[in-house]
Amino acid sequence: TDNFQVAIDGPASAGKSTIAKILATNLQYVYVDTGAMYRAITLAAKNAGVNYDDEAGVVDLLPTITLRFEPGTPVQRVFLNDQEVTDAIRSTEITNNVSLVSSYAAVRNDLVARQRDMAASQNVIMDGRDIGTTVLPDAPVKIFLIASVDERAQRRYQENLAKGMSVDLATLKAEIQARDYKDSHREISPLVQANDAILVDTTGHNIDEVVAIITNII
Ligand code: C5P
Repeated sequence: TDNFQVAIDGPASAGKSTIAKILATNLQYVYVDTGAMYRAITLAAKNAGVNYDDEAGVVDLLPTITLRFEPGTPVQRVFLNDQEVTDAIRSTEITNNVSLVSSYAAVRNDLVARQRDMAASQNVIMDGRDIGTTVLPDAPVKIFLIASVDERAQRRYQENLAKGMSVDLATLKAEIQARDYKDSHREISPLVQANDAILVDTTGHNIDEVVAIITNII
């Protein structure tokens, strides 16, 4: 492809989507939030009354699912079958079950194909867990974004407070660690730094500093 691609991978709550969205605006690239796509499939299962551990049931839903993004502030808007699910895909229930749903081979194959399609026709900044390793292995820029688990839990905690959700810090930290463990240990395209990805540790750095570091790399 002639398009430019920036792949940003990393563990949960490392700031990938915040950073990717700013970079996309600055560079006028399209931001693709692949985590939102896995979350939307998880929500589709919930809506259809399919148990998250019913792999065949989840996979059966795939051909019926349309996913669409629209620009929005502060976050991109997400539509599942033309219904807005921007907030619904961030619920604790979806967050704690998305790793299971995203471990299914047919789910990954389906979404990876959709993600490659999006990257084929436009310049993209794509964030997720397997973008540099699997979805866009030839991306000219690959970033692996990390931060200490304490700082990630703290950031999520502040975000939740701002939204009026109260989940205690220790629970958030445990949920983040559990999700990272599942994402790093699944069989198909687990979360791992690509050989040619540049490691960026955001611990102790604010958003502007991280944007500057990655803009330099790009
Ligand atoms: O990025 P976010 O935290 O919203 O991703 C939600 C979940 O979706 C991850 O914990 C992971 O299980 C799954 N995911 C994935 N591959 C990606 C992006 C997300 O498996 N490329």
